Amino acid sequence: MADLATFIRGLPKAELHLHIEGSLEPEQMFEFSRRNKIAIPFRSVEEVRAAYAFSNLQDFLDIYYQGANVLMTEEDFRDMALAYFARLNADGGRHAEIFFDPETHTDRGLPFSVAIDGLLAGMKEAEKTYGITSKLIMCFLRHLDESSSLRTLKSAEPYLDRITGVGLDSSEKGHPPSKFARVFQAARERGLKICAHAGEEGPPAYVHEALDILHVDRIDHGNRALEDAALTQRLVREGITLTVCPLSNLKLCVVMDLRDHPMKRMLDLGLRATCNSDDPAYFGGYIAENFIRTAEAVNLSRDEIVTLAKNSFTGSFLDAESIAKHVASVDAYAAKH
Ligand code: ADE
Ligand code: ZN
Repeated sequence: MADLATFIRGLPKAELHLHIEGSLEPEQMFEFSRRNKIAIPFRSVEEVRAAYAFSNLQDFLDIYYQGANVLMTEEDFRDMALAYFARLNADGGRHAEIFFDPETHTDRGLPFSVAIDGLLAGMKEAEKTYGITSKLIMCFLRHLDESSSLRTLKSAEPYLDRITGVGLDSSEKGHPPSKFARVFQAARERGLKICAHAGEEGPPAYVHEALDILHVDRIDHGNRALEDAALTQRLVREGITLTVCPLSNLKLCVVMDLRDHPMKRMLDLGLRATCNSDDPAYFGGYIAENFIRTAEAVNLSRDEIVTLAKNSFTGSFLDAESIAKHVASVDAYAAKH
């Protein structure tokens, strides 16, 4: 049998929790800073990487929004997306559902169209080059008022045929899902899929709100749902996919040691967990690295690794036929290796 890392890299998989702005590597940050003449407060790539020491979500977000300042043109967004897809391809990724944060860019004065047109161009090129399919999920920043997300949804009107869903991200504590009830209702009326970060740092009550008030199709993270047995049972019963991000959890001190990560417990409980990278340029690993390090740390069996790969397709927003095809490809790979 192939060693664990080789087996994982070859395993067909989908990424369901990836902030494209969080895939901006320091090298590309410097390149964009030079070509757009935007100053950054670092002298070298090493200095940037040294700054990536976080003790909570907010520590990270402060530096992540600063990093996004170098993104100015459609070409920047396209190049950033293409760099991500090249890495996903090397990691055995066949499909991705990527988040982007329009308000991070419109609040700096960029027209709404710049980020989305650039990303759509990158996604199209990735499909041509690698055969990787992708979908776009537009996230609202929860530290801002709901009026800002309502304006963002309005700006997105001309693009709604190319946006699969909406999400909720940024500072979780103090910004419960209920703050965004109206904008998510409007998004649902437009036929968009619904995701929300919940239970990363926030309490199980925020996961309840995401289910009952936002009517989510997926929960992003969801770690703290495990503190509530009835909630856990409900997530199992309703087959809600959790997009779990182990290396992010480690870097943001959601867990202090990867050996304490709940991924195996989630699978044991029957939760539909998936394994994702969140903001790989900041957290030290793309999707395969997340699989490998988690498998080693919590002793995932080969069957559990295969289950995570299958969950990534069954929890995706692909049509039923595509899901069946991808799941069959996971089974065929597992049978051969
Ligand atoms: N934005 C980018 N990454 C995030 C995360 N892990 N949680 C909340 N907001 C984010
Ligand atoms: Zn996230």
